[in-house]
Amino acid sequence: MNNELPNKHLVARSFGNAAAQYDDVAVLQRQTGDELLERLSLVTLKPKRVLDLGVGTGRNLSLLAKHYPEAQLLALDIAPAMLKQARQSYQKSSGLKRWLPYAKTPHYLAGDAEHLPLADNSVDLVFANLSLQWCDPRTSFAEIQRVLRPDGLLMFTSLGPDTLRELRQAWAEVDDYPHVNMFYDMHDVGEAMMAAGLAEPVLDTDRYTLTYDSAMALMKDLKILGARNLNAGRRKGLTGKNTIKQVGDAYEQFRRDDLLPATYEVVYGHAWGGQLKQQKVDGEVRIPLNQLQGRKAV
Ligand SMILES: C[S@@+](CC[C@H](N)C(=O)[O-])C[C@H]1O[C@@H](n2cnc3c(N)ncnc32)[C@H](O)[C@@H]1O
Repeated sequence: MNNELPNKHLVARSFGNAAAQYDDVAVLQRQTGDELLERLSLVTLKPKRVLDLGVGTGRNLSLLAKHYPEAQLLALDIAPAMLKQARQSYQKSSGLKRWLPYAKTPHYLAGDAEHLPLADNSVDLVFANLSLQWCDPRTSFAEIQRVLRPDGLLMFTSLGPDTLRELRQAWAEVDDYPHVNMFYDMHDVGEAMMAAGLAEPVLDTDRYTLTYDSAMALMKDLKILGARNLNAGRRKGLTGKNTIKQVGDAYEQFRRDDLLPATYEVVYGHAWGGQLKQQKVDGEVRIPLNQLQGRKAV
């Protein structure tokens, strides 16, 4: 597992700049968010605290509030501008109901999924739609496991390595720089979940194809979404018109029925908070004896 992860400040800035227009183009995000909520509705849960991790513009926040009206919602994102947008859209969607005495206002938290500003064992449900692909799975799942109560649930989607494969290939025909972010595959994600101590992890993948008139239109949408190429080894500086034209020409090999496809490999996953809470002391992992009771040795 050695994907180079983008710099956090750049991720926050890129998504922050995207906040105002994000909803106009977040087609895939809506689809996978709906699918995650659908999967959630099959599980009987009465969560007290629900964390929308990488909440973005908050579209799923009001849907989670409808699912779990008694829960305290926590909306967390690395980009403060996204949180501002999420707060506004939540207020708009709850209308006058937000003034009712029992109405619970979400708490908005600026923070990093790899260093959650939350106490151990404090959350019953972590919902993360297309945000964890920006993180190192070993660190983010360890953090999720730390904050999840033992019977709490994690439900997430992430992106797999086949995502934007056409764009990656088109660029590869033009230069040798990485132009599309690298994504972890399902096996790496599963291993990271197990290593974090999450219980009964289940993963599957689904492919979605969005279509565009031109490669330019796809690249414009990615920019609006904030999902820009932030690879550490990316080519710095402006990309010339001629280079973009070459990428557009290379992308044409994928044209079918007059449209250009963009593949997304979506990883769906869930797991339960593990009983075993690890304690790191001087680089050594220690598990309290009382937590080993009733557990089989692995
Ligand atoms: C593609 S958007 C998805 C937003 C939302 N979950 C949705 O379904 O529309 C990814 C979000 O994850 C946030 N994000 C990226 N890296 C993060 C991190 N390390 N910690 C917290 N949020 C992060 C981004 O700022 C962005 O709002």
